[in-house]
Amino acid sequence: MTYNDKIIRQFAVMTVVWGIVGMLVGVVIAAQLWIPALNFDIPWLSYGRLRPLHTNAVIFAFGGCALIGTSLYVVQRTCHVKLFAEKLASFVFWGWQLIILAAAITLPLGITQGKEYAELEWPIDLLIAVVWVAYAVVFFGTIVKRRVSHIYVANWFYGAFILTIALLHIVNNLALPVTPFKAYQIYTGSVDALVQWWYGHNAVGFFLTAGFLGMMYYFVPKQAEGPVYSYRLSIVHFWALIAIYMWAGPHHLHYTALPDWLQSLGMVFSLILLAPSWGGMINGMMTLSGAWHKLRTDPVLKFMIVALSFYGMSTFEGPMMSIKTVNALSHYTDWTIGHVHSGALGWVAMMTIGSMYCLIPRLVGEKEMHSIKAIDLHFWVSTIGVVFYVTSMWIAGVMQGLMWRAFNDDGTLTYTFIETIAATKPYYAIRLVGGILVLSGMFIMAWNVWKTMRNKRPEPVPASEPAHWGEHA
Ligand code: HEM
Ligand code: HEM
Repeated sequence: MTYNDKIIRQFAVMTVVWGIVGMLVGVVIAAQLWIPALNFDIPWLSYGRLRPLHTNAVIFAFGGCALIGTSLYVVQRTCHVKLFAEKLASFVFWGWQLIILAAAITLPLGITQGKEYAELEWPIDLLIAVVWVAYAVVFFGTIVKRRVSHIYVANWFYGAFILTIALLHIVNNLALPVTPFKAYQIYTGSVDALVQWWYGHNAVGFFLTAGFLGMMYYFVPKQAEGPVYSYRLSIVHFWALIAIYMWAGPHHLHYTALPDWLQSLGMVFSLILLAPSWGGMINGMMTLSGAWHKLRTDPVLKFMIVALSFYGMSTFEGPMMSIKTVNALSHYTDWTIGHVHSGALGWVAMMTIGSMYCLIPRLVGEKEMHSIKAIDLHFWVSTIGVVFYVTSMWIAGVMQGLMWRAFNDDGTLTYTFIETIAATKPYYAIRLVGGILVLSGMFIMAWNVWKTMRNKRPEPVPASEPAHWGEHA
């Protein structure tokens, strides 16, 4: 009996490809914010169309391929069985690529529902639902036919991610189709807003957090060659995280028509969310204790530790930003964009890259990637890029917030809006440099992956890998 690694190889390669595409579009829109004329007056190159293309590409194409690919790898290894329904797994791969292609065509054409992170129109939404159910069948089917009684904690996180995304996607996209490219949402007014941000925040919580924690719980111990620091903590923070995330969405709607008590509820749950988030961060960091010396020589571990640090930072920052008085300053400013990318680039992308560097050689029967030096170079280029990005947006954001609320003695505004934009311009240039650095790192990765995978005959891996770290618990 061997594991099905073909499907994992496909997802791994597409993770790198979509990472490059998504970040390239990110660099283009970052350049447009600096020099708006860079849209060349072509509608499909306009900022409003490329921005959702960027978010969809990085979250669902890059992040999605990484999550589906690693989850199907981890579930086989930790359950000691081959994938359930392999043909269906293949359908999941091709279906997911088709969805990405449909997004890449419709979004630049301006075909959109106008709901953030749920822009795709109803026929594509239906396809997503079908592919996602197929994915759930493959994943949970494999869990059901497992040959060990224990279900390793990484699978708990992946499982929660799969179930919750199905629920969020279906509830948030309930709509009445009127033409092949247009549907009317069934929700209206502030209910629509509340459902949208219940979706939006839990997309952060389950797509960008729980799924990647699943990745962390397998690949960090694997790369550190030691057990998870506290298995008990992993279970406790799992249940706390999924119970609390669901309630925090209203922090996206402070000072809106949403009832005041709901806004406060969102704020309180966001503050509580700090604890389970840090439970995961501390557990990941402490898993490396005893392996600190490896950081000197292993750039893959460096990616993972920096990812965990950014996870800790962004989940401290998020609760602070959810406090209404702080949000009064941060909302609408680039501070939010800085927060987003400290989570998205610092945590999500860094963890994905580290895990891919750990996973890809194993898929072709190698111990490590073709060039460790190239991984180290990628690490530094990427880390410096993320720091440029995030710090420039933090400074720009706080500056904008303060300039907007500055009053003269006679009650008039101290600054006109355009003055705040002019003051932000240098920071947009710095962010662009950061983005270009991160993107260059992805090209280094692509070269290294190509070199590692080329000419290598993937050996079928026997399903006799030793029980995974932590399974003893
Ligand atoms: C080279 C790397 C990247 C660059 C240059 C970049 C650039 C940008 C820019 C310019 C925006 C628009 C900001 C605005 O509207 O003011 C944006 C938005 C966004 N990006 Fe990125 N990005 C990159 C990587 C990523 C990655 C890897 C992710 C996710 C995994 C991500 C997720 C997002 C999200 C969610 C938003 C929307 C934020 C919001 O609405 O508040 N980005 N990005
Ligand atoms: C304890 C955890 C977290 C809390 C309480 C939190 C809280 C917040 C708050 C208050 C905002 C600003 C809302 C606004 O003013 O519009 C925000 C925006 C955002 N956060 Fe977080 N955050 C957390 C972690 C994360 C992580 C880890 C990521 C990414 C991996 C992330 C991604 C985002 C995104 C994409 C937005 C922008 C949404 C939009 O307006 O389009 N957050 N978050």
